[in-house]
Amino acid sequence: MQVTGEYEPVFTGDRRARLDAILTRYPTKRAALLPALWMVQEARGWIPDTAMVEVAQALDLTAAYVKGVVTFYTMYHQHPVGRHFIQVCTTTPCNLCGAEDVVRAFLEHSGCGELGATSPDGRFTIVEVECLGACGFATPVLIDDDFIDGVTVDKVRELLARYP
Ligand code: FES
Repeated sequence: MQVTGEYEPVFTGDRRARLDAILTRYPTKRAALLPALWMVQEARGWIPDTAMVEVAQALDLTAAYVKGVVTFYTMYHQHPVGRHFIQVCTTTPCNLCGAEDVVRAFLEHSGCGELGATSPDGRFTIVEVECLGACGFATPVLIDDDFIDGVTVDKVRELLARYP
């Protein structure tokens, strides 16, 4: 991978200063990879290949190594997503309690239509995820950084309205 064309770097100005401050907290540059990737996602909404190259250069890593990490963690987006990213647990315990119906309600009321797609108004992208660690509180949902448990079909519409 290479940075070509009109790439606008992420780590300039205040962000570069933030990254430098983060680097002082770790024994190696490599150890700062996850927070550096968060900064990219914060700035761009997702992590394009070109940004992976920039991160690799900043941390003295290979772009392939950075891509391996980005593709390992589901929390890093490899393509543009809606303003609000919704993760619904559909692992067996939640599934038995109606998680599939909750997912269907999210897809319908958000306008996304299908998993991984972004709603036409750009507000939402919805994905299914494995256990969110709240198996006794089906159905748990993450909307951006908000953890919400006990979501049922009848709560979905009101929940979406909280995220303009
Ligand atoms: S199975 Fe859904 S939170 Fe654990």
